[in-house]
Amino acid sequence: MIVVASSNGRIGIEAATQILRQGGTAVDAVEAGIRLVEANPEDNTVGFNGYPNILGEVELDASMMNGRTLESGAVGALKGYLHAITLARQVMERLPHVLLVGDGASRFAAEMGHPPQPEMMLPETRAVWRNRLQPELSDAEVAQIAERTDLARWVELATDPERAKGTVNFIAQDKAGNICTGVSTSGWAWKYPGRLGDSPIIGAGNYADNRYGAAACTGMGEMAIRASTAHSLVFYMKMGLSLAEASERAMTDLRDLDGRFISVMNLVAIDKDGNHAGYSSVDGRSYIYQTPDMPECEELPRTVVPIPPRWG
Ligand code: GLY
Repeated sequence: MIVVASSNGRIGIEAATQILRQGGTAVDAVEAGIRLVEANPEDNTVGFNGYPNILGEVELDASMMNGRTLESGAVGALKGYLHAITLARQVMERLPHVLLVGDGASRFAAEMGHPPQPEMMLPETRAVWRNRLQPELSDAEVAQIAERTDLARWVELATDPERAKGTVNFIAQDKAGNICTGVSTSGWAWKYPGRLGDSPIIGAGNYADNRYGAAACTGMGEMAIRASTAHSLVFYMKMGLSLAEASERAMTDLRDLDGRFISVMNLVAIDKDGNHAGYSSVDGRSYIYQTPDMPECEELPRTVVPIPPRWG
């Protein structure tokens, strides 16, 4: 039994581990851990108080995958509701679908009884968004930003690759050996409205298969979508590579991407025996894990596979 998470999952990892201690499922553990991160206003990359899109609206993406059945659920560009991971789980368990986005996701949240959250940001976070646009747009122009027909231009100006790195990953393996992965994010700060990253895309930011292991990503989601990173890593283990070899290979696939828009990528992974790994394209990143016998989580450095950034 084990829980592995990106380092911003620290606030939720004990709750997730406690569920496993009490004989709960990996699915319950992952949901419980991520809900605490989504509710944490100090994390500007997940859930409440996440950085907004270019219009100043918080749009959430999340997904969950059950490695026992390969059943999956995801929501994208969810507005007005906090617990995207719970909604992703409900898509997985209550619908014949995998991915709901935008108005459909909000509608399903209401139907599932989620409390509406009309204000998803603290004033200081709204001020960060406003300041980011400040040099380019007057107050009057910001007030009218939703009416503009040249948002692509403003997204380009306002984009801050350094803020693209936040997302939370949880992977849990329970007493029965079942694996679940969950990913939740408010996505890329100042993104174009409706932009989905890798977090709600099964196989890109999230993949789990009890027979081989699981992987989840944080960082610049577009790269993980292009390389199908989480699925690739699990597939490499299916093809007989060790966890370390498979992780290295998945990172190398990202490094070999051609074209523009190459930035930071990170992943966490486990194999079917509960061995764990964390990788990053840059120095100084860490991940956490906890087993039921540990009183608290341990933080470990991620192995670095450098990926030279390219932008524009
Ligand atoms: N990895 C999260 C995102 O790109 O939205």
